Amino acid sequence: MHLFTLLPLPYSLGVLTLAYIQNFCFTSSTTSPVKVCILQNSFQPGFVAEGDYIIGGIFPLHYNQEMPDLNCTYKPPPVKCNGFDPRAFRWAQTMRLAVEEINENPELLPNHTLGYKIFDSCAYPLTGQRAAIAVLNGINEDGAPMCSGASPLLAIIGESGSAQSIVVSRILQPFQIPMVIISYFSSCACFTDRIQYPTFFRVIPNDDYQVKAIAQLLVRFNWTWVGVVRGDHEYGRFAVQGLLRELQGTKVCVAYQEMIPLLYNQQRALEIMQVMRNSLARVVVVFSAEGEMTPFLRDYMTQNITGIQWVASEAWVTASVFTRKEYYPYLGGTIGFGIRTGYISRLSKYLERVNPQRYPNNPLVQELWEALYGCRPSLSSASQLPLCSGQESVLEQHSAYLNTSSPRVAYNTYKAVYAIAHSLHNLLMCQPGNGPFENKSCAQSDNVLPWQLQYYLQEVKFIIAGDEVNFDLKGDSVPYYDIINWQRGTSGNIEFVSVGLFDGTKPAGEELVIQEDMIMWAGHQSEVPVSVCSASCLPGFRKAVRHGEPVCCFDCVPCDSGKISNQINCTFCPEDFWSNKDRTICIPKKVEFLAYDSLGIALTVISVVGACLTIAVFAVFFYHRKTAIVRVNNSELSFFTLFALTLCFLCSLVFIGEPTFWSCMLRHTAFSITFSLCISCILGKTLVVLAAFSATRPGKNIMKWLGPKQQRAIIFSCTMVQVVICAAWLIHARPYPTRNTKYERSKIILECSVGSSLAFWCVLGYIGLQACLCFVLAFLARKLPGNFNEAKFITFSMLIFCAVWLAFIPAYISSPGNYTDAVESFAILASSFGLLFCLFAPKCYIILLKPEKNTKQHLMGKEKK
Ligand code: TRP
Repeated sequence: MHLFTLLPLPYSLGVLTLAYIQNFCFTSSTTSPVKVCILQNSFQPGFVAEGDYIIGGIFPLHYNQEMPDLNCTYKPPPVKCNGFDPRAFRWAQTMRLAVEEINENPELLPNHTLGYKIFDSCAYPLTGQRAAIAVLNGINEDGAPMCSGASPLLAIIGESGSAQSIVVSRILQPFQIPMVIISYFSSCACFTDRIQYPTFFRVIPNDDYQVKAIAQLLVRFNWTWVGVVRGDHEYGRFAVQGLLRELQGTKVCVAYQEMIPLLYNQQRALEIMQVMRNSLARVVVVFSAEGEMTPFLRDYMTQNITGIQWVASEAWVTASVFTRKEYYPYLGGTIGFGIRTGYISRLSKYLERVNPQRYPNNPLVQELWEALYGCRPSLSSASQLPLCSGQESVLEQHSAYLNTSSPRVAYNTYKAVYAIAHSLHNLLMCQPGNGPFENKSCAQSDNVLPWQLQYYLQEVKFIIAGDEVNFDLKGDSVPYYDIINWQRGTSGNIEFVSVGLFDGTKPAGEELVIQEDMIMWAGHQSEVPVSVCSASCLPGFRKAVRHGEPVCCFDCVPCDSGKISNQINCTFCPEDFWSNKDRTICIPKKVEFLAYDSLGIALTVISVVGACLTIAVFAVFFYHRKTAIVRVNNSELSFFTLFALTLCFLCSLVFIGEPTFWSCMLRHTAFSITFSLCISCILGKTLVVLAAFSATRPGKNIMKWLGPKQQRAIIFSCTMVQVVICAAWLIHARPYPTRNTKYERSKIILECSVGSSLAFWCVLGYIGLQACLCFVLAFLARKLPGNFNEAKFITFSMLIFCAVWLAFIPAYISSPGNYTDAVESFAILASSFGLLFCLFAPKCYIILLKPEKNTKQHLMGKEKK
């Protein structure tokens, strides 16, 4: 046994401070029971009962402790707690009830009794620390010799807030007191650290589950722009950290994070409210407890801010102090995750029994009365309130005290006591030689060590009011929450309505069950409030994130053509589809080809007119076949030429209409063969003209080499070359119909692919070659004598022909999509007309209008003038 005189240390939070402990002694080892005496400790226990085994209880029976004078020198600050909290009082009573029930129960801990020591922590770490040390002390420390009166203390039930629990569990560690702590309300995720908190258990789920549930709730209701407010403690810090982690990768962004200072500061609170007012975030998640929320909400109400949809954490979602009428306009509609309720059958009877008559000397019961009824039960009390008459009714804000229909935190306390009792029971039931400890030994019943109890606590599993209680390796319990919604009660006050649940044991995605139609939202609305930074984009638009701003704030920009949007991104339409003007749906692409529309009809008409004209010329020639002008040069050739020209006119028709397998094959081949034929005829004629005039010169008799048979042979063979080229083309790489989507992406152009462009240009080249040859020969013959010199006209026609086709090449290559066919067909028509007019118009003119010139003499230029 040692006697320490500790030097006073300056007051500081978090660091173990023992400034006010003057004489302190303890015996501590892992083998003997803990005995701690703190002399001169003026700290009064709230409730005490003796028993074989003592459980400590620490409850925040007051909202706060008056701020200690920080300048105090070496004097323990006076313990003065303010604001009696009937809610926590009820938790303490539940602990007492549980201990009494266990003591009465012949099956649980037979032949042993449990005792308790309940202290007030005033919801403040420093006072909590005092309570923890007081709890370690023996009950009757005043009379007892130092360190001898202490009964074995096995476990502590407490604390409420995580910040206080941290202090309590840290205070035990320097003394190596492996005291088991079971918390009923400390949900901070930080306690899962088994190295820092080796002996910490709890009957409330870890906040990691709560933040997961809140994140799912935010996602579920599309609240993508939310504010977060927290208290200045570990609970708030870890919860916000967890929430941010959960929100990563979701569509939800945090608009702002604010902290209510530990020592309430109105200035700071007003600043926070200003942020709330200016933000577009209508939903505010608050991790805080009623103690710090009360002054904050008081100022919030004076600021008259409305339209905020609160998401409450489990610490205040079932706090009955906020159920008063005046809170309704500001807090109505609040939603949050409440810890699981249970059923404690004897609680309401038990609470009724705790009254000033029964406990005349307990100041806490006096205070309870003052808080509940607003009157002083006896003269001994120091308050200024009027004396109670017995007729008073419970004040509105504490009407929930006696309502034991759905205890939550109280139920946790109840479970915690039972967990200790069951573990102790199992420990005492141990068969020697079959125990879990070294050499199969058991714990000694008269010297139970806390670490032995801890072993059993880790293993314990029991059922209470239908609920299974057990702890996982980290000392946590089953994650289960009720979704609580604050609705208007019959008398205008707020009622907590359960509108769903979150079961963390369910597979991912199925944990959250909400009855949406039962929810009443903030501002008495039935539709879900909107809390977004930027409204989602209209169909046809996509999100464009603003530079340097969170992803939830964006502009909407229209999609490019060919894409449609799902309001987030633009996506390409499938092949053969294109976006409509609004970029909302994909519509089949427009199919285009040279159809019988205005252009098609015009081309058709021109080609038919051309063909008719040619036939008319044919008729005129046929009718006048006996006249000189027709006969002058082989009339057969003229008829051939006219026939070929008719075909030329008609073959432009093949270019109009939807391209098919056959029309594609026909297009170029028909055109090239007829043109070849036509030019061959003209070539023949040129040769004849050239020969005829050369023949007139003496000594040359070419004419006999150019009789009608030879002429036909020339025409036939010249045309045959083209036929062979075309045949090879068709056999080797025939033209085929295709859908061209490259030219204009919004349209499908039906066209004929040439199959082999070499063949295509060969065919054209061959016609060009023939035309050039023809042109050169005609050019040679142009000066020959005679009034009617056909060679002149042939030269001219070939010039026009070549001009048309030379112009055609660039036009063909550069013409857009479906116009290529029109250009080609137009070139065919133009060159055909060129040939028709140049070759036959002058002759027709003479035949029809100047028949007197239609004589051999005139034509030969031998006519006498
Ligand atoms: N679950 C909270 C916590 O772990 C509950 C709580 C109780 C609380 N008392 C508090 C939170 C005081 C903040 C302040 O801390």
